[in-house]
Amino acid sequence: MKIIIINGPNLNLLGKREPEIYGYDSFDLYYKNLQNKFPSIHFTYFQSNIEGELIDKLHEVGFTYDGIILNAAAYTHTSVGIGDAVKAIETPVIEVHISNVYAREDYRHHSYIAANAKGVITGLGLKSYDLAVESFL
Ligand code: DQA
Repeated sequence: MKIIIINGPNLNLLGKREPEIYGYDSFDLYYKNLQNKFPSIHFTYFQSNIEGELIDKLHEVGFTYDGIILNAAAYTHTSVGIGDAVKAIETPVIEVHISNVYAREDYRHHSYIAANAKGVITGLGLKSYDLAVESFL
């Protein structure tokens, strides 16, 4: 099974960025542990701060991978283009968020991705990604 994790803007700073919200762990360390936890899965990881690069990656993997775990970060709340890309591809997408977006500012309550995602997991820290993987198994 081929699963890609796609992280959007500012998630390269996990561990350093607002740790009281996003935690103290870097994504690199978390990702290594995730790979060890699910040895049968072929994982790929992609992070970009650029909206178009995220769309290009969705197009690239969206007809061949078995699952996409997408944390589009701030673009979740602003990007019609990423929402359209999720709709355009065949591979199911699980939208994840580390923080509980519904417990935060109003502008984080709307997602352009959710309506076309298979499901949404929000607020469970990095564990949100584990649960998304399990949902594909
Ligand atoms: C986030 C929530 C978004 O609102 C925010 O812009 C992020 C991260 C999360 O994982 O909690 O950058 O997607």
